[in-house]
Amino acid sequence: MKSLKHLPVIIIMMLVSLACQMSDSSDKISGVEERVEQLLGEMTLDEKIGQMCQVSGGQGNEESIRQGMIGSILNEVDPENINRLQKIAVEESRLGIPIIVARDVIHGFKTVFPIPLGQAATWNPELVQKGSRIAASEAASTGVRWTFAPMIDISRDARWGRIAESLGEDPYLTSVLGAAMVTGFQGDSLNGETSIAACAKHFAGYGAAEGGRDYNTTSIPPRELRDIYLPPFKAAVDAGVRTFMSGFNEVDGVPATANKYLLTDVLRNEWQFDGFVVSDWASTWEMINHGFAADEKEAAHRAIKVGVDMEMATTTYRDNIAALLKEGALNIEDINQAVRNILRVKFELGLFDNPYIAEEKQNQFARPEYLEAANLAATQSMVLLKNEQKTLPINSSSKIALIGPMADQPYEQLGTWIFDGDTTLTVTPLQAFNKTFGQENVLFAEGMPISRTRHQKGFRKAIEQAKNSDVIVFCGGEESILSGEAHSRANIDLPGVQNELIKELKKTGKPLVLVVMAGRPLTIGEISEHADAVVYAWHPGTMGGAALADIVSGKANPSGKLPVTFPKVVGQIPIYYNHKNTGRPANPDSWTQMYDIPVKAPQTSLGNESHYIDAGFIPLYPFGYGLSYTSFEYSDLSLDKEVYARDETIEVRFTLSNTGEFAGEEVAQVYVRDLVGNVTRPVKELKAFERIDLQKGESKTVTLTIPVQELAFTNIDMKQVVEPGEFQLWVGGDSNAHLTTGFVVR
Ligand code: NOJ
Repeated sequence: MKSLKHLPVIIIMMLVSLACQMSDSSDKISGVEERVEQLLGEMTLDEKIGQMCQVSGGQGNEESIRQGMIGSILNEVDPENINRLQKIAVEESRLGIPIIVARDVIHGFKTVFPIPLGQAATWNPELVQKGSRIAASEAASTGVRWTFAPMIDISRDARWGRIAESLGEDPYLTSVLGAAMVTGFQGDSLNGETSIAACAKHFAGYGAAEGGRDYNTTSIPPRELRDIYLPPFKAAVDAGVRTFMSGFNEVDGVPATANKYLLTDVLRNEWQFDGFVVSDWASTWEMINHGFAADEKEAAHRAIKVGVDMEMATTTYRDNIAALLKEGALNIEDINQAVRNILRVKFELGLFDNPYIAEEKQNQFARPEYLEAANLAATQSMVLLKNEQKTLPINSSSKIALIGPMADQPYEQLGTWIFDGDTTLTVTPLQAFNKTFGQENVLFAEGMPISRTRHQKGFRKAIEQAKNSDVIVFCGGEESILSGEAHSRANIDLPGVQNELIKELKKTGKPLVLVVMAGRPLTIGEISEHADAVVYAWHPGTMGGAALADIVSGKANPSGKLPVTFPKVVGQIPIYYNHKNTGRPANPDSWTQMYDIPVKAPQTSLGNESHYIDAGFIPLYPFGYGLSYTSFEYSDLSLDKEVYARDETIEVRFTLSNTGEFAGEEVAQVYVRDLVGNVTRPVKELKAFERIDLQKGESKTVTLTIPVQELAFTNIDMKQVVEPGEFQLWVGGDSNAHLTTGFVVR
């Protein structure tokens, strides 16, 4: 009898120790597993189901919260309201389980940082981490304790509107910066008062939407899924991310939200993730549209079975779990496991111990140091693509014609996902130029009221201003709403009559600086020929104008580098630097432009190589590219050894010299190619990088390291291995780096 009486305790202790073995992070906060199990033991089925439901907005949901039927709310940001709802959950529901309040805090809260793609162009993990820390601090001061970020979907298609939210095309850069965001959001300890749980999304492959059309089917070979799309998610797990979001897309016929391979085999079993997984908005329900579930019940069943713990927005869980249990399609352990994962994170966040936001902690927005960090992030994100005749920087005594639809648009320069961004904080280029160059030296005309304007009514004034100036700065691009979710474009030229206006302005004979604010690479190849200098500014956020004025005036030296390849024309997409070589690689010596092909030329006249006869094979700008006002030289490349064992680390040493006229920062990049594999390998892959600042005339010896294990890939047997053999390595300022050497792995 005695032993039977103690059975539940023994089971609990066994479960606790099992869970503890699986959970490094929860070990850090002592007692979490015990508290989870104890609470779980007291919960009714309805209360368990409640934890698995997330609803949008608190208004009207008070009674459901009181009944314990809601585990999470998204899209509430008023601290008083959040405290009010939390009070109902904590003080009026039977078990007092707090709700977790979520929000899309993607690139800032009130203080808006550059869009993630812009932040990626900084190649600066510390700064990216700081941006997320600041966003977390601002958001947490309202009671938001969970963000749906970082978005770490590899994006190789500029047509896809959500490329703006991504960190670009490269698995390594995305891994490093995504992990930095996780650390920034979550802080040193998840229960810190400025910490919010991060969410690695969208698991997985969402960025591979066919044709760049949002929500579209993907086609990702299993090996490519492993080597290109999954590494950033693994890096997020390693950085301690506490939640995941499943994607809208399907992967090889199976929606990500019911994908056992992704959510169970990889995420839970292989990576041992013990946080919780939320569906994307209605992505459970949408499995009916996918033709993967006949009805809501089947959709709920499929998602829960593979480990989607919480459902966002739709109610397939709430409406069907009880019946699924009754029928035996689910068992209570499926539900317990989901609830356990959710409660664990709530405990770790300290929500049970400190559920409310104290009044004095509320609304801690836009502190001077936050704005300063946003300014630095915007400065480092801007990429100088062209600078003929040293058009930039502009002399402080010059008269500047500041023209264009993005020159004075406090909202449009903030970018996608800025629900809470405060446009009254925005510093536009016009405001900043007036301050930097003096109002009397800035001749402003928008030329077009918005980026999509199709009439030319504003041209005359713009051209007049240009005629009276020494130099024209044209701020164009695309408005915030033209990128982001469901805003894919098939034509990615500058919209409206921007090209026409630029050409008219150039006819004045004045030097013209083209500044592009956009959520994606735009096809600016042809129009750039009418510009003497080009600055790619992305959507630079709150301090974008100030950063631009610093760059244009030379107070700051541009140092951003492209996190994506820029196509010349849409037809080149997908175009990315880490492609395969093919059996017939393109060759600059034999490539012939379409119009140069002789009439009735024989079939094989072009050498039968992999290129377009009109657009060639070279992008407009390669991955990693970006100029500076100074020049950098790389030399003396050496490795510490010629032959490495698989458990060793490669030390790459080289000299970087500032050979130009200004102090500046350079992002040095190391690329590696595995020359022969038992499956084909990319022509090169980024394996290390560092931002280095150098005074004019200064040289530094730089050492970057690459663990040989970083060279692993998914081999013919679907195993992650480093294959012995020869490798080539390059060092330089972009993915076309020329300084090269080789090494062997045995
Ligand atoms: C849908 C988006 O795909 C996702 O990224 C976002 O976090 C949710 N909506 C919530 O707004």
